[in-house]
Amino acid sequence: MTLTESTRILDDIFARSRLLPVISIEDMQDVLPLVDALAAGGIKTFEITLRTPMGLPAIELLRRERPGLCVGAGTVLDAAQFQAVVDAEAQFIVTPGCTDELLELGLDSRVPLLPGIATASEILAGYRLGYRRFKLFPAQACGGVQLLEAFAAPFGDVRFCPTGGITQASAAGYLALNNVMSVGGTWMAPRELIRQGDWAGIRRLGEESAALF
Ligand code: 3PG
Repeated sequence: MTLTESTRILDDIFARSRLLPVISIEDMQDVLPLVDALAAGGIKTFEITLRTPMGLPAIELLRRERPGLCVGAGTVLDAAQFQAVVDAEAQFIVTPGCTDELLELGLDSRVPLLPGIATASEILAGYRLGYRRFKLFPAQACGGVQLLEAFAAPFGDVRFCPTGGITQASAAGYLALNNVMSVGGTWMAPRELIRQGDWAGIRRLGEESAALF
């Protein structure tokens, strides 16, 4: 797949769902009730991170059991993890940063890569290869809305998915920017509510968040 096709697929995914819950699974029993609660609240796209050993099996489970949802893999750090999430049928791949290794893997991958950046130089490293869609991470800590406004001038054809430190209260400010395609974070599925199995509470958070766009 070319990067132009990859950009088009990412645009399709995030046009359908402008919110991206970033989920780290601690217990496989949580996977289906958790995504079902968010889906009932109106959120149909998810990033499952590899921060826990359950990340990969959770992606496989969701691809098998919930084919109507869109499941991406997050916190992909190296080539081995990249290959593992491609094999698990992840529908997109998110990385916190952009090493040469990861950017090269994304060039002819059958799964679109959303590389993480925090600076103009990192955007340029991806831009020269053809990347036009990036994750901004950690969004709030590295400049947030002001940084994205500043990036809009030199990078007119680039769009971002900011994540990191974003809350339900601050998400709308990001979503209002023309160069933001979606906003991600853990606030839609907080660890405490997952541990308590409070699926009704998570559904409510999903509904409140989905009402933002
Ligand atoms: C990410 O990987 O995008 C962040 O860890 C999101 O987490 P936060 O919303 O809790 O900052």
